[in-house]
Amino acid sequence: MPEPRKTGWLACTPPPLAALLLQGMACLVSLACAVLARQSGFAVAPMPFAFFCGIVAALLSRMFGLPGWWLPIQLFFLPALVWAQSFNLPPSWFLAAFLVLLAVYWGCFRIQVPLYLSSRKVWQALETLLPANTAGKTFTFMDLGSGLGGVLLHLAKARPDGHFHGVESAPLPFLASWLRIGLGGTRNCQVRWGSLWSCDLSQYDVVFAYLSPVPMERLWLKAKNEMRPGALFISNTFAVPDYPPQDRIELNDLHRSTLYVWQI
Ligand SMILES: C[S@@+](CC[C@H](N)C(=O)[O-])C[C@H]1O[C@@H](n2cnc3c(N)ncnc32)[C@H](O)[C@@H]1O
Repeated sequence: MPEPRKTGWLACTPPPLAALLLQGMACLVSLACAVLARQSGFAVAPMPFAFFCGIVAALLSRMFGLPGWWLPIQLFFLPALVWAQSFNLPPSWFLAAFLVLLAVYWGCFRIQVPLYLSSRKVWQALETLLPANTAGKTFTFMDLGSGLGGVLLHLAKARPDGHFHGVESAPLPFLASWLRIGLGGTRNCQVRWGSLWSCDLSQYDVVFAYLSPVPMERLWLKAKNEMRPGALFISNTFAVPDYPPQDRIELNDLHRSTLYVWQI
């Protein structure tokens, strides 16, 4: 799970860029060490060099306050590259893998929200939070960052009296959810490609988000400014600093998810 970095001179740099800079610094330090070793008569093979570089990168990342989950990435990045080289794969494969990852993890670089999915227990708990089924009345639900569309599809099937909308910025998850909704023939459900920040929240009775700690404060301000009095704002897992929710629902799923619920 992404977590904000608290200290360090790289605090204003997006974590992927900070990680790349630290990897570059580690390479320079390791190259200097390899040159010194060579002058003393020791030749360094590529894999030990890569591991040395990975250790330096992980140490630097710890020193400069990158979140803990970056350390194994920093440690194994160069060894994995050297290992992949041994298969003599065409460079186009690396480019293709990069493009696929980019299309899935589009939002990570700027607002640090990757794709991970709410559990079935979250879907079921959301069902209990939807407005009561009243004859002739309908309601609207928005999933901000709707991923593969799982939340929307489940709720749309469970509550045919509601309208379920999603917005997703990453191209591949958007395409997958759009196809799932289209092929499934779910009429009360739609998803669009775009940014959640350009979404007008005033038309929704329930707004749901499962993002990361990074955008929560800004998103809460947006919800408070735009949503109608009485509407529900629900965040899976990520609370809003200094704004306690009216209700919290703890779920016994794999991630020990908590739903934070605010009535506007
Ligand atoms: C943690 S996933 C949640 C997926 C789904 N809502 C669920 O609960 O299973 C967050 C999603 O938000 C998307 N996202 C990140 N930033 C976004 C933005 N600015 N606008 C729209 N979607 C965004 C990501 O691409 C990712 O698919």
